[in-house]
Amino acid sequence: MAAVFLGTIVHSKSFSEFESFERGFLAVSASGKIIGIGHDYQAWESSNPVLAKDLEVVRLSDYQFLMPGFVDCHIHAPQFAQVGLGLDMPLLDWLNTYTFPLEAKFSDQQFAQQVYKSVVEATLRCGTTLASYFATNHLESTLILAREAVRQGQRALVGKVCSNCNSPDFYVETAEEAVSGTLAFVEEMKKLGSPLVLPTITPRFALSCSKELLKDLGDIARRFDLHIQSHISENLAEIEVVKGIFKTSYAGAYDDAGLLTNKTVMAHGVHLEDEEVALLKARCSSVAHCPASNTMLSSGLCDVQRLVNAGVTVGLGTDVSGGNSVSIQDALLRALDVSKHLDFFKKQNIRGMGEAKTQDPNYVQLKYKQAFYLATLGGAKALSLDHLTGNFALGKDFDALLVDVSVLESPVRRLHVNELVEKFIYTGSDRNIVEVFVAGNRVKKGCQTT
Ligand code: GUN
Ligand code: FE
Repeated sequence: MAAVFLGTIVHSKSFSEFESFERGFLAVSASGKIIGIGHDYQAWESSNPVLAKDLEVVRLSDYQFLMPGFVDCHIHAPQFAQVGLGLDMPLLDWLNTYTFPLEAKFSDQQFAQQVYKSVVEATLRCGTTLASYFATNHLESTLILAREAVRQGQRALVGKVCSNCNSPDFYVETAEEAVSGTLAFVEEMKKLGSPLVLPTITPRFALSCSKELLKDLGDIARRFDLHIQSHISENLAEIEVVKGIFKTSYAGAYDDAGLLTNKTVMAHGVHLEDEEVALLKARCSSVAHCPASNTMLSSGLCDVQRLVNAGVTVGLGTDVSGGNSVSIQDALLRALDVSKHLDFFKKQNIRGMGEAKTQDPNYVQLKYKQAFYLATLGGAKALSLDHLTGNFALGKDFDALLVDVSVLESPVRRLHVNELVEKFIYTGSDRNIVEVFVAGNRVKKGCQTT
């Protein structure tokens, strides 16, 4: 597409800087790059006549706005098959009872094809233009997921999951299989040659990988300069076992294997110790905050402000199916809820909890514009893809959502630019996302139409 959008445009420039253009413009080249953004289209048009000449003009209504696409920093694609089910147990029981048996079924490629087609459709429908996916231990099915993201035009990081210990007999591989499967996956992805879909090194979590396997995966990541994703400090029982095995902190276990890099995103980090937070910051590794899953699996309340204040990059993750929703808009709202709940615990005298205990009278709640950042640019940074996406900086790819807040009910009055965003965040759903663009292509509902 070569087009210029005229109307309300919003994006984040940083955690604390939200920028909006009320009667603004955003110009996109035929190759899907952002070539102009600002308040005054006429001025831009007259100084860029050659660029402006072929642009289709798209006028947004008073109830529409354009925003960067959502980034899901952590989602388990196979678990879409059980989304909303089996949320009555803490992590380790949940894995053994529901999740490992489900993931084992992905040896069946037909089943994988069905589920993976649906999960990419569902995430795109909810406005996820970039997702970091865990698949399963199976090479062939993981390739099916990668091909499905390419076919539907979603930007994605896709990982073949590796687990060689502390796993059930029916869903485990040897270290050699994990390494050769990972190398074969990386090779196949190179052949696929998609600029949008890349492989990511994916040890499931420290608990399910031997020291040697973690080290081999760290070596592969370094050799091919690959992205890395895993889980960290999600659940107290899990943390105790990891510390017992590795004789170091959870973050230390990954660091010893060379798995904490500037291309690493670790999901959860609910119970990280101060030294671990400092280590993540020193390695430029990021955290995917997964508020829905942290609540559903009773893992705990993650203090995002603490991580951000310590200089750690944070994005949001749905963590389907530990999380019950594929929507990052929902994750954004849940992040705001968790921050408010933390505020209550830190400051209020809550009835039934005995003595009032003020832990941190200076705690500052997350604001909706900051949560918007986490859902977009923060996520792109957390996945080390912010040179390509995450906001509307010139030269980046046009990964965007056209949102219409009047789709379900017309607001009673004309809304100011920030109110449009607020309305969408607090009352919206996928129904309000009327167009989804990735690298300039229209991809809503998984149908590439341009
Ligand atoms: N830790 C290891 N595997 C998983 C998983 O599938 N989901 C979550 N939430 N945590 C994990
Ligand atoms: Fe997870």
